[in-house]
Amino acid sequence: MLAAPGASLHCSRGAGRGSAAREAEAVAIMRFSNKTCIVTGGGSGIGRATCLQMAAEGGRIVVADLRQAAAQATVDQITAAGGQAIAVETDVGNSAQVQAAIAKAVAAYGSLDVIVNDAAMMTFAPIVDIAEADFFHVITTNLGSVFFFAKYGAPHMPPGSAIVNISSVHAHATTTNVVPYAASKGAIEAFTRGFSLEMEARKIRVNSVAPGAVDTPMLWDNPNVKSGVEKVEGAIGKPEDLAEAICFIASDDARFVNGTTLVVDGGRLDIL
Ligand SMILES: NC(=O)c1ccc[n+]([C@@H]2O[C@H](COP(=O)([O-])OP(=O)(O)OC[C@H]3O[C@@H](n4cnc5c(N)ncnc54)[C@H](O)[C@@H]3O)[C@@H](O)[C@H]2O)c1
Repeated sequence: MLAAPGASLHCSRGAGRGSAAREAEAVAIMRFSNKTCIVTGGGSGIGRATCLQMAAEGGRIVVADLRQAAAQATVDQITAAGGQAIAVETDVGNSAQVQAAIAKAVAAYGSLDVIVNDAAMMTFAPIVDIAEADFFHVITTNLGSVFFFAKYGAPHMPPGSAIVNISSVHAHATTTNVVPYAASKGAIEAFTRGFSLEMEARKIRVNSVAPGAVDTPMLWDNPNVKSGVEKVEGAIGKPEDLAEAICFIASDDARFVNGTTLVVDGGRLDIL
């Protein structure tokens, strides 16, 4: 959780739990000090919560989002609390824009240590009805972005860096009308496994996090959720629940975790 404006940015596991004993035991956690972290989709939901937590733990954050105002709002929250961040308007499905975002991150902060590929989109139509362009828009935005950030980001990353690709439980169990999304997420997990091998010698870890239902606009805008086809009752996480997992995987705490997918869904993969 980001510190209040003017307060110390040191993040403590005991903070906010209302227990003096826990406060006394609390250890300052600053896992992203001197690290530059690009978070795509950082203007909303899971991406924003991840930006805030990484900033609270000392990270220099590059908020890359299609919506500049949303990215800037995340930056404003971070800087108001004394953290460091810049907003970079980026369509993650556009190679030139991804390369420009990476160049801005390196120019601003001199390094690139963490990439969180969080931005994604969905369509809601059966495969036989969906326009070809819409299918490939999903694939390019969700999977192409992971490729672009890998291809152009990894060369800048020193040993000890980490890439976290945001998948979904839809990679494992899905429903009708969201097949392009499910396919893109399944491919992200396969990409993660293979790319982690290619990065082993460079000591760059590559993992995925697969959220279940999380309380964000993407969940509530989903017509399958609105209609009840996809049932999420009792299994809804907060963006901060995912940020915790993403920060763990991106940090040295997860130094022996590589090429895998962490499912973070409250134990409810069976809802689909
Ligand atoms: N919310 C859920 O229930 C849920 C479940 C499983 C997986 N996920 C995954 O979590 C990630 C984040 O989702 P969320 O729920 O926080 O969504 P969200 O809608 O709250 O935020 C998504 C952000 O991505 C940005 N974005 C969309 N297209 C983009 C593009 N082409 N370039 C750059 N930015 C773009 C949007 O502007 C938005 O700020 C996604 O990868 C999503 O697939 C979410």
